[in-house]
Amino acid sequence: MNIAMIGTGYVGLISGLCFAEFGFNVTCIDKDKNRLNALKNGKMPIFEPGLEDLFNKHFFTTKKIKLSNQMSPAISNAKVVFITVGTPTRRINEDADLSAVYDVAKEVAKNITNYCVIVTKSTVPVGTSRKIKNIMTRYIKGTNFDVASNPEFLREGSAINDFMRPDRIIIGTDTKKSEKILKSVYRPLYLTETPIISTNIETAELIKYASNSFLATKIAFINEVSNLCEKVGANIQDVSKAMGLDKRIGAKFLHAGPGFGGSCFPKDIKAFSVTAKKHKTKLSIVDAVNLSNKNRPIEIAKKIIKYFPKKSKINIALLGLSFKPNTDDIRDSTSIIIGNKLIEAGFKICAYDPKSMENAKLKCKNFSFANNVNDACANMDAVIIGTEWNEFRALDLSKLKRLVKKPVIFDLRNIYNPDDVKRIGWEYVSIGR
Ligand code: UDX
Repeated sequence: MNIAMIGTGYVGLISGLCFAEFGFNVTCIDKDKNRLNALKNGKMPIFEPGLEDLFNKHFFTTKKIKLSNQMSPAISNAKVVFITVGTPTRRINEDADLSAVYDVAKEVAKNITNYCVIVTKSTVPVGTSRKIKNIMTRYIKGTNFDVASNPEFLREGSAINDFMRPDRIIIGTDTKKSEKILKSVYRPLYLTETPIISTNIETAELIKYASNSFLATKIAFINEVSNLCEKVGANIQDVSKAMGLDKRIGAKFLHAGPGFGGSCFPKDIKAFSVTAKKHKTKLSIVDAVNLSNKNRPIEIAKKIIKYFPKKSKINIALLGLSFKPNTDDIRDSTSIIIGNKLIEAGFKICAYDPKSMENAKLKCKNFSFANNVNDACANMDAVIIGTEWNEFRALDLSKLKRLVKKPVIFDLRNIYNPDDVKRIGWEYVSIGR
């Protein structure tokens, strides 16, 4: 079976390569020629563990992946066409910007010559796939087609593993034929007994937003509980662990920190709320999560600023700039929000991140940058651990203490044991402990 992926961003590239790994012939289409040329020279547009190896395997060796900036002939040869272009937040009303999705729908319609299933894999508000169908019907010339929704749940940093070993696959269709075709695309996962949930199209679209919003709610909830822990002398890690042992609650996404960031949660909760409002209903919990998470890094920055009685000439080492470990993505990174707030208060920031420095240098013009942890921390008044990269989990804190001006750590990811760090002579501030 031939598959076409339209958009070689995070979702399109990873999903395309994983379908090639399943054995399908995949054409990844993108109108950005520079991006495609870089890929053809083996240069990955993002850092993602395992991506480069999988790309080299299927582009250079098996040749199951092709790259093209043209819809034709890939679209007319494909049985399944996945739309995987971006759906960023609109500035005016926080809704998802679907212009790229609808442009693609129009172009696909103009290029179809045989029956195929057009699948939205981009995260799109409920109702979008129906609109795609309407647009395509207007532009298509006599060919039969179906639309479907097949949301992805990939996490940056572990996306390939998530694709290969998903918790579930959601297939939203309105014909038996398209359901059967989409199920066959995921047949390799039958071996691992992955649950495949067939729904109507609207349900599939909604499952994605409800899932992301629920996970975001867990994080915002535990973050607020961590504030209370600080006031009453309780320990958030013990609270999370004990709560998580209740199978009805589950242990995951109960790790308190500086707030959630990234390209999905902040964008998706806003779009979910806008969808509800459009349908004259309310998602007041999602709205509260959005507000809580917006304030979270600002409150943490205030806490750090308050720690220093004198606000001038304070130099801070900021370790970790990506929104989470194992990615170079800095979109909505709480480290960067906090760094900027400290700069506004007159502090100076020297930052280091194992993978996202190039991206950060373009965005954070007021930061200075160091090439490693030691250089970032030399002569600093405090060290902030903003992202829980493995590299920061076992720092030689005795050695580091001799390098800094003042031994103060703000561990925003609770990766150290407070007693151990204090014993070495650091002042240690963490979250909810
Ligand atoms: C998320 C969803 O998990 C994934 O299913 C969806 O397809 C895309 O959005 P991702 O954004 O890659 O994935 O990262 P995720 O691991 O979910 O973390 C999101 C944010 O929440 C990060 O900033 C992370 O640091 C934060 N987080 C996560 C917490 O603060 N505490 C937690 O317990 C878990």
